[in-house]
Amino acid sequence: MRWLRGSNFSKNALNAFFASAPAGIAILDSQLRIRKANLTMADMIGTPLAALLGSTPRGVAPLFADKIEPFLRRVSATGKGVLNFPVIGETVKSPGVIRQWLASVSPICPEPEGMWCIGVIAVEVTEAARFEKLRKSEALLAEAEQLGQLGSWERDLVTGEETWSANLCRLLAIDPVQTTVSEELFWDLVHYDDREGVRMVVDSAMKFADAYEVQSRFTLPGGRERTFYTRGKLVLDPNNQVIKRMGLTQDITARVEMEHALQRSEATIRRERDRAQRYLDIADVILLALDLQGRITMINRMGCATLEREEHQLLGCDWITTCVPARTRRFVKPWFDNLLAGDLSYVENLIVTRSGEERLIGWRNTLLKDDEGRVIGTLSSGEDITERKVAEKAVQQLSSLLLRAQDDERRRIAKEVHDGIGQYIAGLSLAIGRLRTSCIDETDPDSRQTLADCRTLIHRASQEIRTISYLLHPPTIDELGLKSALEWLVNGYGERWGLQVSLEVSATLGRLKPEIELTLFRIAQESLINIHRHSQSPTALVRLFQRPDEIVLEVADRGKGMPARTRESERSSGIGILAIEERVKQWKGHFNLESSPDKGVTIHVTLPVT
Ligand SMILES: Nc1ncnc2c1ncn2[C@@H]1O[C@H](COP(=O)(O)OP(=O)(O)O)[C@@H](O)[C@H]1O
Ligand SMILES: [Mg+2]
Repeated sequence: MRWLRGSNFSKNALNAFFASAPAGIAILDSQLRIRKANLTMADMIGTPLAALLGSTPRGVAPLFADKIEPFLRRVSATGKGVLNFPVIGETVKSPGVIRQWLASVSPICPEPEGMWCIGVIAVEVTEAARFEKLRKSEALLAEAEQLGQLGSWERDLVTGEETWSANLCRLLAIDPVQTTVSEELFWDLVHYDDREGVRMVVDSAMKFADAYEVQSRFTLPGGRERTFYTRGKLVLDPNNQVIKRMGLTQDITARVEMEHALQRSEATIRRERDRAQRYLDIADVILLALDLQGRITMINRMGCATLEREEHQLLGCDWITTCVPARTRRFVKPWFDNLLAGDLSYVENLIVTRSGEERLIGWRNTLLKDDEGRVIGTLSSGEDITERKVAEKAVQQLSSLLLRAQDDERRRIAKEVHDGIGQYIAGLSLAIGRLRTSCIDETDPDSRQTLADCRTLIHRASQEIRTISYLLHPPTIDELGLKSALEWLVNGYGERWGLQVSLEVSATLGRLKPEIELTLFRIAQESLINIHRHSQSPTALVRLFQRPDEIVLEVADRGKGMPARTRESERSSGIGILAIEERVKQWKGHFNLESSPDKGVTIHVTLPVT
């Protein structure tokens, strides 16, 4: 081929190039009239070449005029070209088909002093754009495959050609450059134990020309095991022969492992629950859980046995209306509300069994909370204290009987000592008087002294007998009342033991029930004896006064206080304080003992008076 230089190009050669160029070319004058155009351009626009010459773009291609004219004007105004702008739309020639071009417009100055012209070159890129779109959607598919741990594959059953997507290769750890993918390779990768199953699924799909789904394990090169889920689809020819299998395969290892883990943890939870249930069942207390509405959410074997009901008859039932005797329900409801509000104190209340028997239960309570700390119900352990309460009552009755018997006994002994021995001593005193006048020589100093000694001893003995008898039972209490009995007691102890006892009795205090007066007298007496024996206090104070519906007795000392005891077993074996408590209990009163090493002991007793 001979190359031409510059102006040596032959006009014919240029014209030939112009005419046959694979791009549409047109030259427009300053009025935007088409001066020259090639066949490709005419073909693009869909107009005969002759019709183009002399007309404007708007005249021949009205659909594109708006898209091109602004560029043409810009070029004629600025003298600068615009390259490769896209033009998209339908042409008259092929309506309904969206086509795409890349167009460039540039100024052309043909001769040194000639007029400016505008050159237009357009190249159709519809196909390229379509390809680009395909490329993009393939890229999207690849991305989707990667995201979803998915791979796609195709098996041409006629040619035997096998295609695996890049991601499928990645999932199966196959290097598609080094390895030729094939059906054999596929079956090699399927886990040995799963091959049979997969084959059966595929065979039956082929037989019935049906789609199929199968889950199986794969053993990847290197030995790693993964689980895949495959959906396959068959492509048939017009004679209904299967010519192709294609499908999607997803790596579901993570999900399967999670499911297994879940199953394992469910098994663990079940085991834990069963074990907890066994503990609940062997517990010899009632264990009861209620929700916020007071419905039973859990009750153990002991609970069911006590209520004489089956667990399924109780679960979900309202506790109060099902298990609490009707007459006490109105007390139990506020208690339950208080418990939910956080009052966890011990409480005793009645439950009723299926056969109608009432039992007293002592409840210890706690609140059940969820992970965020919100209260979701209550958990209580209940001890059946019915028998214990009966026994306690019996013991109390017995001790009250004993105390009464003791008082009666003291009263009887006091009377015997006073009336019996007292009478003998009185008789003895008279007999000695007679001796003095008839038998004894009073001039003899020895005899006189002996006589005087006898009289003194008799006097002392009589006093002692009187005191002992009064201490056993103060006779004044029956006639003159508690106040004078206490005065006598305080003075007596003061004299005998050198203890400074002050007595304060409120002036308004009238006579009380004889039994109450005796109880208070005994308490004061026992307390003063303790002060004398244990406190080392030189003084004591006894106060007795009345409040609107109770009577109060206080006995205080300034001694060393109660000895510190650390263990229950170190409790004193004495029964003085116990007896005081017991006497107070009989009258449903209140007993309190305060003690400190520097202030001494104060016993505080209140008894209700009605
Ligand atoms: N006022 C007191 N001051 C110091 N200790 C006291 C006082 N009263 C009682 N105690 C202590 O309490 C114990 C129990 O008293 P009590 O039940 O009357 O039995 P008892 O007097 O027979 O020992 C006494 O042994 C003593 O240690
Ligand atoms: Mg005592």
